Amino acid sequence: MSQYYQYDVLIIGSGAAGLTTALTLPSHLRIAVLSKGDLSSGSTYWAQGGVAGVLDDSDTVESHVQDTLTAGAGLCDEAAVRFTVENSRSAIDWLIEQGVPFTRNDSGEADGTNFDYHLTREGGHSHRRIIHAADATGAAIFTTLLARARQRSNIHLIEQQVAVDLISASKLGRQENACLGAYVLNRATDKVDTYAARFVVLATGGAAKVYLYTSNPDSACGDGIAMAWRAGCSVGNLEFNQFHPTCLYHPQAKNFLITEALRGEGAHLKLPNGERFMARFDQREELAPRDIVARAIDHEMKRLGIDCVYLDISHKSAEFIQEHFPTVYERCLTFGIDITKEPIPVVPAAHYTCGGVVVDQQGRTELANLYAIGETSFTGLHGANRMASNSLLECFVYGRAAANDIAQQDALVSPPEHLPHWDDSLVTDSDEDVIIAHNWEELRRFMWDYVGIVRTNKRLLRALHRVRLLHYEIDEFYSNYHVSRDLIELRNLVEVADLIIRSAMKRKESRGLHYTLDYPQLSEHALDTILSPLTPASADD
Ligand code: FUM
Repeated sequence: MSQYYQYDVLIIGSGAAGLTTALTLPSHLRIAVLSKGDLSSGSTYWAQGGVAGVLDDSDTVESHVQDTLTAGAGLCDEAAVRFTVENSRSAIDWLIEQGVPFTRNDSGEADGTNFDYHLTREGGHSHRRIIHAADATGAAIFTTLLARARQRSNIHLIEQQVAVDLISASKLGRQENACLGAYVLNRATDKVDTYAARFVVLATGGAAKVYLYTSNPDSACGDGIAMAWRAGCSVGNLEFNQFHPTCLYHPQAKNFLITEALRGEGAHLKLPNGERFMARFDQREELAPRDIVARAIDHEMKRLGIDCVYLDISHKSAEFIQEHFPTVYERCLTFGIDITKEPIPVVPAAHYTCGGVVVDQQGRTELANLYAIGETSFTGLHGANRMASNSLLECFVYGRAAANDIAQQDALVSPPEHLPHWDDSLVTDSDEDVIIAHNWEELRRFMWDYVGIVRTNKRLLRALHRVRLLHYEIDEFYSNYHVSRDLIELRNLVEVADLIIRSAMKRKESRGLHYTLDYPQLSEHALDTILSPLTPASADD
């Protein structure tokens, strides 16, 4: 039998953004944190690099702001950048207070800072400003925040819960719209439960699974973006999909990232003949922003017809490599690659969704009582290209801001109201699940081929035709059959893919991560691409 729950705050997603929000909320509020798999199934756990922030006296807010604006290729919202960077120190101090075991500066190495913790460097940063826990920062943060959340009796952590859709007042036929809760598939019972909540927070991560090759875990299906869109919220800048330049290229290695911090600590990108090539593309060489490095690799792979390039840090001492990059060292060794002695085969892969649900500085969406935090959201911080390690920072700064906003609204929002149960009286069990598997594969392949690192009008149009067909087929399937995790995720991926393609078609220039052979120039005016569900797709041009 399906269940009915009532909470003050429903947080969908149990990564850095969701847990930060939950832990910052006042303890008198009853909070549910849902995860669609195990609690650690999101992207946070896999983050290697770290958290960017202004942490030592020789760095400045202005420098971090300027680096972010430069990487964002003229499209960052400067107010959002300043807000995030100005709050970076307090967010990182909060993480340290929670007990996150960041790598300390006790290795005897001079890193030129007066801060107690070791700071590393990544692409686009003109300063060492990335605080990290060796090369497993996400796991260290996640484990610490989860342990804190488990100590709080008002926070209920619930696994294997797949959100299907938001419940809004307008869907119930009311005039005054607001978010009232969500329908959620409980994977243990296979029933869709109803969660009524005064506030809902979407912290479901990005949509990199829309591409065939990705550094992300299987959960990155754009769930929050798709649900917010269906509930009437606008989305921004979804054409900016970041491809991480260096994922391990090995037939048995699924989604393994080789952290950019390797390049920050001096690793070189090389062709199969050992030649370095980045100087031909940018004077910052291996430390150019990601869009430039990924495009350079893509260019060289296509020019030479090679399957991968190589990342080489073997000129550093084995002791240094093992101390700074234990995760990468161990993982590569399992594939027979000793990174202290030989270069690592690497390729670019989809990594980060720079756009998302339009929010303000408190993480509020256009729908009352609905918030979106982290990779799900579009705050304006990343512009046309996210700078490394600004993403975790965004989760903490905006997660805390949203929680403070909810605390302020608390007295003004009435208790959760009674909502209708999920109605599945008209659907049956599917007899053709093969359609789901087939459509997943097709979607991810054509997105990779036609909406990838280098785009053209023709490729985008091809992708649009295909996604529309899939959309139609999946909507029909959804209307006729019981929902399953795969169907819910595919429905969301198709929705987001459609929005990515439409956004890409609207941008008639090349900027940051959006590069098209038909419009190779940067246009004079930097404009965000905002799509609204209230405007029909036919009005895109
Ligand atoms: O390369 C990395 O460790 C990734 C960092 C990031 O995406 O911010």
